[in-house]
Amino acid sequence: TILVLDFGSQTSHLILRRLRALGVFTELLPCNTKIAELTWKPKGIVFSGGPSSVYDEGSPHVDPAVFDLAVPILGICYGCQEIAWRADSKNVARGEKREYGHADVTVTKVNSHADRLFAGMGDKVAAFMSHFDKLVKLPTDYVVIANTENSEFAGIAHKEKPIFGVQFHPELEHTPCGEALLRNFSVDICGAQPNWQMGDFVQLEIARIRETVGDRALVLGACSGGVDSTVGAALMKEAIGDRFKAILIDNGCMRLNECEEVKKTLSDHLGIDLTVVDGEELFLSRLAGVTEPETKRKIIGSTFIDLFEKEAIRIEKEAESSANAGKVIKSHHNVGGLPQRMIDGQGLRLLEPLRLLFKDEVRAIGRQLGIHESLVGRHPFPGPGIAIRILGDVTKERVDIARKADHIFISMIKEAGLYDQISQAFAGLDTNRSVGVFGDQRVWGYIVILRAVRTKDFMSAEIFKFDLEFLENVSRRICNEVEGVSRVTYDLTSKPPGTIELE
Ligand code: XMP
Repeated sequence: TILVLDFGSQTSHLILRRLRALGVFTELLPCNTKIAELTWKPKGIVFSGGPSSVYDEGSPHVDPAVFDLAVPILGICYGCQEIAWRADSKNVARGEKREYGHADVTVTKVNSHADRLFAGMGDKVAAFMSHFDKLVKLPTDYVVIANTENSEFAGIAHKEKPIFGVQFHPELEHTPCGEALLRNFSVDICGAQPNWQMGDFVQLEIARIRETVGDRALVLGACSGGVDSTVGAALMKEAIGDRFKAILIDNGCMRLNECEEVKKTLSDHLGIDLTVVDGEELFLSRLAGVTEPETKRKIIGSTFIDLFEKEAIRIEKEAESSANAGKVIKSHHNVGGLPQRMIDGQGLRLLEPLRLLFKDEVRAIGRQLGIHESLVGRHPFPGPGIAIRILGDVTKERVDIARKADHIFISMIKEAGLYDQISQAFAGLDTNRSVGVFGDQRVWGYIVILRAVRTKDFMSAEIFKFDLEFLENVSRRICNEVEGVSRVTYDLTSKPPGTIELE
């Protein structure tokens, strides 16, 4: 196992993802994990990137004992600066120029020890950078193995020890040499066996769930019907059978007919005990007049918790006789975290079976557990649902319009055989209205925004390039069939700068 110590970079999880894709099992722990408390010895350690500056007071640092483990270390960006800063705090400083995006990296051959990180890659590689701070001095006992125009020390290696650092991000899709570099580090330098498979994850996770649950009588799961929560529920069912009960909270912002479909899938197809809580009125009343995106998310998150808590207490009372052993809550990260009061106050424990996995890995597990392809291959849908696809006010009328338009768009994508080529697609609604003409009447109607993107990891995305004729047909159907819509637009913005959702 390779251990990734996380300094808080948005891409720390991607390091795990890339290593696991190579068949190397990897775990993620906080950067300040006490090494003496580790119950296993990693084959190698990666220090991730992070948003802080190593030289600032209060910035995160590793337990220095990590260097006494005498296992190979690879520092990425902040992680590389951490290695250099540990050697001498003057080694790292703010650069004169930021360096974001593509960079041409020149690889320098030194000797058979230092050259192992870039082995087999030639002397010019392309990489993705994202930093301001940089190494301004080469740490004592280190050699330079790579540089860019702006970073003299873009890659370093210790002269004798297997300690390496790179300023760029090998875990990003846009660093083409990243996969080879991570393979060189994990397999060749650390000696990790690239033989790990997703099937091992399922067995390990089922064992972990059983151990955490112990003899508790009741495990509650928050299910949205999306890929993650459905696969999570199937995994729970596999691990502990009927002691698992799922709760679906209808927040009034789900897709057309979604509640009924989720019921069918979870109850009929997977045999899971499901309770549906109708929260539409409460959610929409609390959202009334709220237009700021993060406030919308917070309201939806806290209303969700209120209803979930109420339902959990009800189910628990119902199962009183068998619930003496206490209870466990399983929640997916989309819930936005359960409040501490709920966990402390009620002696609950949290199980997050898929917390470290990426969507395609969750899908692979879903397939292994025999979940229908139509469900496993579903596009992701955000927890706050249509509320963050409607710019501005979330009213029942606007939700219904967005829902109908979305249904037409997605159905037409499916009919055209394009669904699996697109990572995420939806129809949202603009804040403004626009004038249209229907027959002899001028109407002041809503503006539908169509969005469809392709992405592997949802961190960056490109728009899907439909035929114009297809989009024209979608537009015609939406204007004809969804009352109140006078105009349809297609969003041409990649991510970045646009996010995938509209808010
Ligand atoms: P953005 O819009 O940030 O989205 O480019 C990236 C991915 O994350 C999903 N997303 C969310 N999922 N709650 C969720 O459960 C949220 O608040 C949320 N915001 C974005 C989005 O659907 C996309 O797949």
